[in-house]
Amino acid sequence: MDAPAANIPESLIATLRDARSVAILTGSGISAESGVPTFRNAQTGLWASYDPGELATPEAFERDPRLVWEWYAWRRELVGKAAPNPGHEALAELERRVPDFALITQNVDGLHRRAGSQRVIELHGNILRSRCSVEGIVIEARENDSEVPPSCPSCGAFLRPDVVWFGEMLPTSALQEAFKAARNCDLFFSVGTSGLVQPAASLPFEALRSGAVLVEVNPNDTPLTQHVEDTLRGRAGEILPALVKVAYG
Ligand code: OAD
Repeated sequence: MDAPAANIPESLIATLRDARSVAILTGSGISAESGVPTFRNAQTGLWASYDPGELATPEAFERDPRLVWEWYAWRRELVGKAAPNPGHEALAELERRVPDFALITQNVDGLHRRAGSQRVIELHGNILRSRCSVEGIVIEARENDSEVPPSCPSCGAFLRPDVVWFGEMLPTSALQEAFKAARNCDLFFSVGTSGLVQPAASLPFEALRSGAVLVEVNPNDTPLTQHVEDTLRGRAGEILPALVKVAYG
């Protein structure tokens, strides 16, 4: 069900219609309504049940590559069964409406592209891809892995998921593109992220410093809430379609 249009301030609708450039930062909250778990929800978040130090660091992979590979294989399966929700679809629609649009995501689930978004900046990689743990060669998709983890077709080293782990650098070009988009936009939306993980958490502040209007879409408060112009309180899958509908009909 769409959120009532009355919940979306008129001033925001006008700013959106006039915006030349819009940047969006998404986190796992936008995929929650697709059935993909978030990270920090006290009951259902992945980090409530799993220790990131045991599963999402280079040291963990060195210690137990099979455990790490299998955990990511399980998550890949979850993502494979999930479908984009109306929140993802609304952002794909927004891209078609706004002259200059950048969608920056911390998510590794690929659901934005599956919803039709074209320009997606993936800050934390993509769980559907693998990469050689030694040479870094990226493998788009593999079928019927008999080995766990599978080995690199070129050098024979273990393949790893092509995601960013704790303690690792983000892909340089994606990070630069994301900061550039934040600096250049008139309107910046932070959607479904707790804003606790750097450097992604700095992007809204970069936009703010550069004069953009900042908006948050989240059912809960975050450290960003006190800095934003508008908070659209609720689920991305309800609020974003309502926003696109009231702004563009
Ligand atoms: P978190 O789990 O930290 O935060 C999810 C946010 O989504 C919270 O603020 C929720 O209130 C909000 N949320 C939940 N359901 C929502 C909905 N239906 N609509 C809108 N918002 C909703 O997840 P992230 O912020 O994505 O990094 O976490 C950032 C990074 O930390 C991840 O990319 C991952 C993780 O460790 C790595 O693995 C490197």
